[in-house]
Amino acid sequence: MKNDSRMLLAGVWLFVACSACVAAPAGWDDLARTPPMGWNSWNTFRLEINEEVVRGMADVFVEKGFKRAGYEFIVIDDGWQIDRDDQGNIIVNKDKFPSGIKALADYIHSKGLKLGIYSDAGYSTCGGFPGSLGYEYQDARQYAAWGVDYLKFDWCHTGNKSAPDSYQLMRRALEKAGRPIVFSICEWGTSQPWEWGKGVGHLWRTTFDIRPCWDCGRKTISNGRQVENFIGFTKILDLQVGLASYAGPGHWNDPDMLEVGNGELTLDENRAHFSLWCILAAPLMLGNDIRSATPEILDILLNEEAIAVNQDPLGKQGVKVRDDGDLEVWSKPLHDGSRAVVLFNRSDMKQNLGVLWTEIGYPSHLKAKVRDLWKKKDVGSSRGGYADDVPPHGVVMVKVMP
Ligand code: GLA
Repeated sequence: MKNDSRMLLAGVWLFVACSACVAAPAGWDDLARTPPMGWNSWNTFRLEINEEVVRGMADVFVEKGFKRAGYEFIVIDDGWQIDRDDQGNIIVNKDKFPSGIKALADYIHSKGLKLGIYSDAGYSTCGGFPGSLGYEYQDARQYAAWGVDYLKFDWCHTGNKSAPDSYQLMRRALEKAGRPIVFSICEWGTSQPWEWGKGVGHLWRTTFDIRPCWDCGRKTISNGRQVENFIGFTKILDLQVGLASYAGPGHWNDPDMLEVGNGELTLDENRAHFSLWCILAAPLMLGNDIRSATPEILDILLNEEAIAVNQDPLGKQGVKVRDDGDLEVWSKPLHDGSRAVVLFNRSDMKQNLGVLWTEIGYPSHLKAKVRDLWKKKDVGSSRGGYADDVPPHGVVMVKVMP
């Protein structure tokens, strides 16, 4: 009798829990326990992507230490496809990818890396190539047969479709295809994917597209609405406030790919962009041409202590704990009880900026060791808090260890 009522209760609980969630396949979250790391072609190459470039990136991943630092996925964004054949199979642009995607996947796998690809939930991609609408299962089977490990799925030309329904459909198609494929939802945050993305995808874009600038932006029309698109990284950062509780192991907010090393960003701005993406537990998708990156940019992208903050197994997204106009403090709890802290100076002058232990969940009397993650050295122990000079448009990033 007692057991029966327990089972009934469990049944009710399951019903309540699952009416509010999407049942993901077993092991789904394990495909992205920490934020995915890799390289994506879009920010530098746009639609001019080809096989030689992709192979080159895989080579550089190994030769320059990206693989060792944890970068894993090489993602071909829009522009690899050209048409569909009579049976509806997607056709690869042979001028750009003469050996085909399977051969490329084999090459990338031979280096211990993984291949990502791009499609769109509508009838056409944003670049005007065939989308997956109506071909979800067929495309998923094709990707699996090629050996694809990651799919970025865009949202252009979707009319009045429901985003949750469209992305669930593709998630089911991937599941049916039977190959573990990380699923990246790219609907630009327009229908609050953080509210329904868990169990549907492993990451979801929270904003329109990033550009390699501090705070630029351009008004565009999206699905009949005027929006600000092509925005600089500080504007994207502002749009992350309030989203931290939706992220965790297996499901991440995605503030878009990195622009470190691109455009006119200064070295301090590049370092700030990378530090903030690390503290946000954002997917770290490189967007520059890493084959020709300068030593200073490589130092940023390969800073293993900053990457460890991003990849921390606790999987908590960092939050802004103080906002004094141009001066901000961001903090992220780490699995060993320590905290990563970014002191962010948006002003045009050097500023002395500090964090109080009470702002990051510690008692003020606590004595904690502080390590500067860009200087890569311990900077002493302190009680109550820590302060330092922060360059204009720059950061100081530290780890605070009680
Ligand atoms: C959209 C996406 C970008 C990129 C392009 C490709 O704008 O948000 O990240 O994938 O499409 O056309």
